[in-house]
Amino acid sequence: MIPKKPRILVVSSANMDFIQHTDRAPYPGETVMGTSYDYLPGGKGANSAIALTFLGAECIFCARVGADSNGQRLRTIYREAGIDSRFIFMERKAPTGLASVIVDNKTGQNQIIVFPGANSYLSPVDVEEAFTSLPDCVLLQFEIPDKAVIAATEYAAEKGIPVIIDAGPARADYPLNKLYPCEIFSPNETELETYTGIAPKNTESCLRAAIRLASMVEAKYYVIKMGSRGVFYYDGKYYNIIPAHDVDVVDTTAAGDIFTAALAAEYMRTGDIMRAVRYANIAGAISVTRAGALNSVPTERDIAEFIENRGIKL
Ligand code: ATP
Ligand code: RIB
Repeated sequence: MIPKKPRILVVSSANMDFIQHTDRAPYPGETVMGTSYDYLPGGKGANSAIALTFLGAECIFCARVGADSNGQRLRTIYREAGIDSRFIFMERKAPTGLASVIVDNKTGQNQIIVFPGANSYLSPVDVEEAFTSLPDCVLLQFEIPDKAVIAATEYAAEKGIPVIIDAGPARADYPLNKLYPCEIFSPNETELETYTGIAPKNTESCLRAAIRLASMVEAKYYVIKMGSRGVFYYDGKYYNIIPAHDVDVVDTTAAGDIFTAALAAEYMRTGDIMRAVRYANIAGAISVTRAGALNSVPTERDIAEFIENRGIKL
């Protein structure tokens, strides 16, 4: 039976983002002047967790934050957003994760350095505990220890729970072969290149990269996030290209996290993968028109208005 309001367990990262805007990002060895800065909640997991609640899913978030003011602030924000925060553990050995985000005012593109801090301590035991929340689906990213991710895929496989993996950040030596089979595997274009060694420049190279990826990690669907080029879909038999929507880009930070959350929410609601991809493509497009990570998350209503204004058929 397809759950109307799916319960989605996010096992992933929580960060504070230190964001600097600049008219031009510095070259190595160069200093440039910034135009503004902000401290805003971020982290791939938290961005997706908030997006899930905004998009009408129930979200349980399993993460680790430090015993510090950032950790406290983040927990309050998650609770206020309606996230089930019972499995957000406090870590005394490390501070809350911090991401330094540089945003180029002209292109909206970002450069990010993540200091993982407390995220590095998320363990298979934490994950096992979070599974007592009885989720309908599990959403994972790679900003936490490999063993926690692998354990989550194992527990989900034992229980027959579908797993959706947002495969970033990528490392060439990531142990993809240790993951249990998942429902959807979703890297972005640079992550796809890191895993497969193939740059997805055009349809032909995208398909070659997707086929190679499918030989490395078992999934029902592969959904490649291609930024302003939209989405490349592959299911082992067919591929499809879904062009991006034409929008004014302000800041691309968290577009991928929001895209994957929307994909998970709509897929779990409908069981229709192509509909879910189109829905996520809209969520991603709206998010890049807004600054910040959590601040750029669209609501169900924003998506409905976008669909209506542009006459889109999902
Ligand atoms: P991030 O790492 O910044 O969170 P990402 O690199 O993982 O993002 P992207 O591929 O940049 O993910 O973006 C995710 C999705 O958001 C795209 O597949 C597309 O649907 C949408 N999107 C991103 N950039 C644009 C854009 N310039 N115009 C329209 N849609 C966009
Ligand atoms: O995907 C964007 C996120 O990556 C930021 O919020 C930052 O915290 C890093 O995790």
